[in-house]
Amino acid sequence: MKNSINLDLCKKCKLCIEVCPCNIIGLNENEEVSFIKDKESICLGCGQCMAICSSKAISINKLSYENNFTDLPINHVNYADFVDFLANRRSVRNFKSQPVPDDAISKIIQAVEYAPYGSEPEKINITVVNNRKTIETALPYISKFLDNIVKWIDNPFISFLIKRKKGMETYNTVKNHLYPISKTGNYKLEFGDRITRGAPALLIFHAEKGAEEHTNNSLIYATYSILAAHSLGLGATMIGLVPAAINKVPEVRKIFNIPEKNEAVMSVIIGYPKYKYKRTIKRKNNNIEWIQ
Ligand SMILES: Cc1cc2nc3c(=O)[nH]c(=O)nc-3n(C[C@H](O)[C@H](O)[C@H](O)COP(=O)(O)O)c2cc1C
Repeated sequence: MKNSINLDLCKKCKLCIEVCPCNIIGLNENEEVSFIKDKESICLGCGQCMAICSSKAISINKLSYENNFTDLPINHVNYADFVDFLANRRSVRNFKSQPVPDDAISKIIQAVEYAPYGSEPEKINITVVNNRKTIETALPYISKFLDNIVKWIDNPFISFLIKRKKGMETYNTVKNHLYPISKTGNYKLEFGDRITRGAPALLIFHAEKGAEEHTNNSLIYATYSILAAHSLGLGATMIGLVPAAINKVPEVRKIFNIPEKNEAVMSVIIGYPKYKYKRTIKRKNNNIEWIQ
């Protein structure tokens, strides 16, 4: 189905022209609102035009008013409630053994559907591992991978290769953040699971290696997930260690069924929190500059 505007329904308010981020809607030679022919192919499919149209006159490829749009919810969260919600969230790493119902995971995934995205959202895959046994199968491989970090950073040649192949961001994260932790033996399973922290459920965000904006999109989706989990009384934490292991260790990739062509970007552990925090933390950012 192509993008189209039903002229019988169109009220010519031109709001679709105003809101389209790619400027692909305009007036044609008959002064009718229409998709501009040679620009139509750059449509992002963001649905802004369909969301603003009062008479539901617009059809976008892959989107329909029936399946992709709902009326606006009545509740509008005010700033104070929103900040309270954020302030109440903590990264949770201590869980009850109580399993997470599939239904709660589905609700988290539904909340992610409202996230902003760059380029094409359908390129992000979410793998749900709501099975502690499966997570545990992967732990020995992930633990060994994290333990090896010490050996790799201590070796000038491998260290150089990480820098060259993975870039400075990954190199600095491994050297300055993970290496000192790994050196303490922290990730060895004899100390317990300090990777997925005994969580009953795990979400993995992944996409084809070269897919547009997939790193940014995955991180936004993971952020929405931890917030959605919090709203459901669940605890969650982003775990960057798991995708790193998936991308490097074939056994981990296989256990989580991540296709060879895909790169894992982020994972989120989920479960019922064992403890309740007494206070929140406010991290002051001193690097804000207002310019005129
Ligand atoms: C990109 C990213 C990667 C993270 N990876 C891990 C991880 O591998 N293991 C972990 O325990 N926490 C991980 N976290 C959670 C942070 O450590 C946590 O957000 C931080 O300690 C602040 O705590 P708070 O979320 O309770 O404010 C990660 C967070 C982000 C944003």
